[in-house]
Amino acid sequence: GIPKFVKIVEVGPRDGLQNEKSMVPTTVKIELIQRLVSSGLSVVEATSFVSPKWVPQLADAKGVMEAVRKIEGVRFPVLTPNLKGFEAAIAAGAKEVAIFASASESFSKSNINCSIEDSLIHYRAITLAAKKLSIPVRGYVSCVVGCPVEGPVLPSKVAYVAKELYDMGCFEISLGDTIGVGTPGSVVPMLEAVMAVVPSEKLAVHFHDTYGQALANILVSLQIGIGTIDSSVSGLGGCPYAKGASGNVATEDVVYLLNGLGVKTDVDLRKVILAGEFISKHLCRPSGSKVATALSRI
Ligand code: HMG
Ligand code: MG
Repeated sequence: GIPKFVKIVEVGPRDGLQNEKSMVPTTVKIELIQRLVSSGLSVVEATSFVSPKWVPQLADAKGVMEAVRKIEGVRFPVLTPNLKGFEAAIAAGAKEVAIFASASESFSKSNINCSIEDSLIHYRAITLAAKKLSIPVRGYVSCVVGCPVEGPVLPSKVAYVAKELYDMGCFEISLGDTIGVGTPGSVVPMLEAVMAVVPSEKLAVHFHDTYGQALANILVSLQIGIGTIDSSVSGLGGCPYAKGASGNVATEDVVYLLNGLGVKTDVDLRKVILAGEFISKHLCRPSGSKVATALSRI
């Protein structure tokens, strides 16, 4: 059955902003994070310690992290592709990191410039270093149902990468439909394959909404027993290395769905909408959340 409580992992400040062409000032990013925190979100992915040549928008990772590290009671994971990023993240005060592998060879190459196997070698080094510092590591698998280059991705490939990440010590594995092509028809077999090798309570789902399937995919994920959902305020986002990928499912829409199902989240819908209005106004763009748009007309 559907879990009674669902943990929402807000990825807006990272996944949401990473693809923005014009630089968002560090102060705006920090205020966005503060507003998201005040809405009750307990996990806010804050930024990435990646190469600024690859993701210029997040070149201010140190400044963002140093400002939010003082906020208590909330987790602020950050993406780290290699030991260089991990060390920079820890130096800036990160207390949790995320590593990101791919189920598709082509996407691994275009996103992190190495093969899946080589990425797992880098990630073993990170999880080893993290273990010594008692830093929890979250693991992502990208392209869990489709790849922008290779097309459909086999569930067995996703299960393989998910298990590798789990075995190296990740406390949670987030399964990402990076380009938002999945439907319940492809998502359920993928989840079943992964759940055969990683316990469902260690799994999260991460849907982009390119084809408008994210909420349907979230509902079937909940029904199969997944209790952690990634989302992005205002549906911001898109991956710079996944052409055509649109934003993540909007946090406002996920909270509305969960409220309707009677699932507890501890997130205040009205306050997330206000956080969404703040960043949408800054980006001069209408909200990507249907719920925020509907409620703003009332
Ligand atoms: P590379 O060019 O192969 O790396 O990139 P390199 O080791 O050859 O280094 C090249 C330069 O980058 C050097 O600088 C390094 O020092 C520097 P130079 O000597 O030329 O001046 N460098 C770094 N600088 C800062 N921080 C670092 C770092 N590492 C190297 N950590 C690399 C390889 C992995 C670094 C690069 O490809 C990269 O940064 N990729 C990140 C791409 C990214 O962030 N993509 C988006 C996130 S994934 C995603 O969105 C999917 C997800 O949401 C799930 C889903 O939706 O499915 C998670
Ligand atoms: Mg993503």
